[in-house]
Amino acid sequence: MHFDFVGFRLYFVILAGRLFLHTSTEELAADLHLQPARPESSLLKPTVLITILARNAQHSLPYFLGCIDRLDYPKDRIAIWAASDHSMDNSTAMLQEWLRGVQHLYHSVEWRPAEQPSSFADEEGPKHWPNSRFTHIMKLKQAALRAARRLWTDYILFVDSDNLLTNRHVLNDMIAENLTIVAPMLESKSLYSNFWCGITPQGYYRRTPEYIPIRKWKRQGCFAVPMVHSTYLVDLRRRASQEVAFYPPHPQYPYHLDDIMAFAFSARQAGVQMYVCNKDHYGYFPVPLAQDQTLKEEEESFAHTLTEALIDYTMDPSQYVHTAPKEPGKMGFDEIFLINLKRRSDRRERMLSSLSVLGINATLTEAVDGKALNSSELQSMGIDMLPGYKDPYSERVLTKGEIGCFLSHYNIWKQVVQQELQLVLALEDDVRFEPRFYSRLAAIMNSVMEAGLEWDLIYVGRKRLQAKQPDHWVKGVRNLVHPGYSYWTLGYALSLSGAKKLLQAKPLNKMLPVDEFLPVMFNKHPEQEYMRYFEQRDLRVFSVEPLLLFPTHYTGEPGYFSDTETSTIWDDEKIETDWDRDAPKHRHEQEEAEPWSL
Ligand SMILES: *[C@@H]1O[C@H](CO)[C@@H](O)[C@H](O)[C@H]1NC(C)=O
Ligand SMILES: *[C@@H]1O[C@H](CO)[C@@H](O)[C@H](O)[C@H]1NC(C)=O
Ligand SMILES: *[C@@H]1O[C@H](CO)[C@@H](O)[C@H](O)[C@H]1NC(C)=O
Ligand SMILES: *[C@@H]1O[C@H](CO)[C@@H](O)[C@H](O)[C@H]1NC(C)=O
Repeated sequence: MHFDFVGFRLYFVILAGRLFLHTSTEELAADLHLQPARPESSLLKPTVLITILARNAQHSLPYFLGCIDRLDYPKDRIAIWAASDHSMDNSTAMLQEWLRGVQHLYHSVEWRPAEQPSSFADEEGPKHWPNSRFTHIMKLKQAALRAARRLWTDYILFVDSDNLLTNRHVLNDMIAENLTIVAPMLESKSLYSNFWCGITPQGYYRRTPEYIPIRKWKRQGCFAVPMVHSTYLVDLRRRASQEVAFYPPHPQYPYHLDDIMAFAFSARQAGVQMYVCNKDHYGYFPVPLAQDQTLKEEEESFAHTLTEALIDYTMDPSQYVHTAPKEPGKMGFDEIFLINLKRRSDRRERMLSSLSVLGINATLTEAVDGKALNSSELQSMGIDMLPGYKDPYSERVLTKGEIGCFLSHYNIWKQVVQQELQLVLALEDDVRFEPRFYSRLAAIMNSVMEAGLEWDLIYVGRKRLQAKQPDHWVKGVRNLVHPGYSYWTLGYALSLSGAKKLLQAKPLNKMLPVDEFLPVMFNKHPEQEYMRYFEQRDLRVFSVEPLLLFPTHYTGEPGYFSDTETSTIWDDEKIETDWDRDAPKHRHEQEEAEPWSL
């Protein structure tokens, strides 16, 4: 009985429990039917190891690292593998400072510093590559590859420490290509880039017809090529990637010892195709220097690369690296004027950054805003157009922008005379600098002084309008010519005597665009009709050759917006002539090809 009772109770409990369980599973099932299954969470980004090798890279490291900082990729999915050795400069300390600042952000950081020795025994200069140096770099890159394999990262990114990855999405974009070895095409001043389309029997670069259309984005996509270098991504999850190596070179490696050639050869032997992609703009890098060039020249070359990148990108140095700003100079001029419209802060910021990178101390001069001038003001200033002036291309008269531009230059001439400045440089704010701008212009000005040349104005950038008639070289001064009819006032050197002559011509009440006025003043304007309004046309004008300044953008190119040619016609406030794509061609249209040189 007792047992039975217990048994009954037990039975009851079990029964009740089953009933309870029963109902609850039913409810649960009903719930599942009502609610759709929760979606799966997204995948974490693949893991990437970034290789940083710094040697004598003090000039480029802050900017290079700034680009790495800005990559649009989760840092906790990135491991950093860095090495710095054989440096004569501050590279090691800089890299260390950066690593200390960022290591908590990244998945992991590995560092191989070596302060000594500061060079290889058989090395003749910082740009000389003896075998010992090639072997060393091959071993370092191999060590990075080993580290990535040990960490089981999905990818390894090789990127040289002077490559500026301006495109923040470059890592995502390259990963999305789903290729074993893929390089984002990098730009340089010349046709030089980080891929080859052909190889010589000795394993060196060979130019083939496919190269230029890719390099100039005439063909866009990802292209199978025999060589990529400097910056590229390797997918380590691919089986064949296990066989690629830098060191030791493949047993059949037939060429001169070289890290990029050894790696490309090993890829070929492993059956791995290299690709370069140019679907977008990804970054910049300097053209490599010759063996006998110096660190100073390398620094200048990199500074130029930075100014190119600055045209389209904001390029701040890494916030994690301390950099002492360079003491800027004036290239031997008493004053360097930078003309800038107050409302064009974009151009101002870019030019100030570029000038700072180039080590040039310029004085900002506010341009006269033609758009803000009304007819009564023009009248009270005694401004009148040269009778009969018409733009030779569009047939229109002077624009307010052109008046503003003239007055801006005119104000500088006045200042030169008032302050009795012996020689100045005037710069507009939409210029692109040629490589080694500072040292080349300084050398020309030196040579002008030494030759005792009497001069009033020297064009540093201009548009040649009589391309068929060659300009004659100036005897006794290197890189200087007697210019013919020219346009543009991007940049020119002006002497005190030159400024006086320009003012004495009293140009305000017979105004032409300033770049038409100058050729009148040196008696090279083809329009006799304009010239007869100016009696003294004896301005002694020269031009640097090759030119050292070009416009950042040419008419009609994306990003082009001229402040002088697009504003309202001055004597009719109602007509808007703002630039649009279908507008008739302006006289400043690009005719001269941009310089492409190797
Ligand atoms: C070297 O770099 C470190 C770290 O960026 C910096 O603190 C130091 O001032 C630099 N020294 C020189 C001489 O530039
Ligand atoms: C990447 O390529 C592999 C084969 O090579 C393929 O199986 C895979 O689906 C591809 N992944 C993507 C995201 O396209
Ligand atoms: C630039 O030069 C002026 C003198 O013209 C000087 O006062 C100024 O300190 C210089 N700027 C820099 C950053 O060196
Ligand atoms: C022209 O501009 C000046 C200065 O901004 C202003 O005082 C004047 O009223 C303006 N005249 C006309 C007709 O708009």
